[in-house]
Amino acid sequence: MLKQLDEIQEQALAALEAVPDLAELEAWRIKHQGKKSTLNQILRDVGKLPREERPAVGKRGNEVKVALEAAYEAKKQALERGELAELLEKDRIDVTLPGRPAPLGRIHISTKTLREIYAIFAQMGFQVYTARDVELDLYNFELLNMPPGHPARDMWDTFYTTREDVVLRTHTSPGQIHAMREYCPEPIRVILPGKCYRYEQVTARSEFMFYQVEGLAVGKRITMTDLKGVMAEFARQMFGADRRMRFRASYFPFTEPSVEVDMDCIICSGEGCRVCKYTGWLEIAGAGMVHPIVLQNGGYDPAVYSGFAFGMGPERIAMLKHDIDDIRYFFSNDLRFLGQF
Ligand code: PHE
Repeated sequence: MLKQLDEIQEQALAALEAVPDLAELEAWRIKHQGKKSTLNQILRDVGKLPREERPAVGKRGNEVKVALEAAYEAKKQALERGELAELLEKDRIDVTLPGRPAPLGRIHISTKTLREIYAIFAQMGFQVYTARDVELDLYNFELLNMPPGHPARDMWDTFYTTREDVVLRTHTSPGQIHAMREYCPEPIRVILPGKCYRYEQVTARSEFMFYQVEGLAVGKRITMTDLKGVMAEFARQMFGADRRMRFRASYFPFTEPSVEVDMDCIICSGEGCRVCKYTGWLEIAGAGMVHPIVLQNGGYDPAVYSGFAFGMGPERIAMLKHDIDDIRYFFSNDLRFLGQF
């Protein structure tokens, strides 16, 4: 019996030696220390042995039990340390690696330009007024002094919809009517920013969708001098203090007289260069005095009230300011372009 106990100890310790991980250690514990282990069976049955054998077997059995418990604890600790070390090794952080850049979003160049425009006109007392993108033919053309069949409608290539009287606005000018009808008979000073749509061939100079900022001032005794002053102030704040302005006679059905607003070229200051196509001048807006019929359509008596209006393209302004030579960059979502601003 004593010899059997020696063997039990020897075999158990040898098996313990070979245990590779905590899972197998548990299996070992059940087999060698569990209730059904041979060792525990012997210890349980000591009482059934002949009286003279009992003390020796009991003593030796307990020694084996204590030895296995000690060996088990030692092995368990060793394995736990091993697994921890392995985990630390596996999850190790290399603090010398360079960080990963977190890409930041930017304000779109059109939005940025619009905000600059708002700020400049805000200083001159103009509020932002927003009107709809989808318009009635009535507002986009008719109330702007272009009845059906008017040849000037051809100035804008229009996106029509399945409803004959509904179009995507070709310019922000219909907003003039909305603003006048809302404010009348109060004086008005607003800018109307927004997207416009034209059924056009997309080229480096024209997109089918782009922004415009319309301006409208209505009141008593407003003259063309006011228009010129506002345009000049805008150009100086946007492009630099020495900008010069010129008005060129033009035609729009909703203004009379109508002008194109030019400023001296920001690159060559009027000498002539690639950007101004050797004219020395850059066109920055269409403008004019609000046509009496349009004032009337807005609810104002043209005998008492007058006003000026202008329309400019923020993308064109951004192109001049940042020397961008193709308008298609604005809405093609190439981050290499958009990230530069
Ligand atoms: N709506 C005109 C255009 O898109 C610009 C303009 C606005 C002209 C206001 C005069 C007055 O071409």
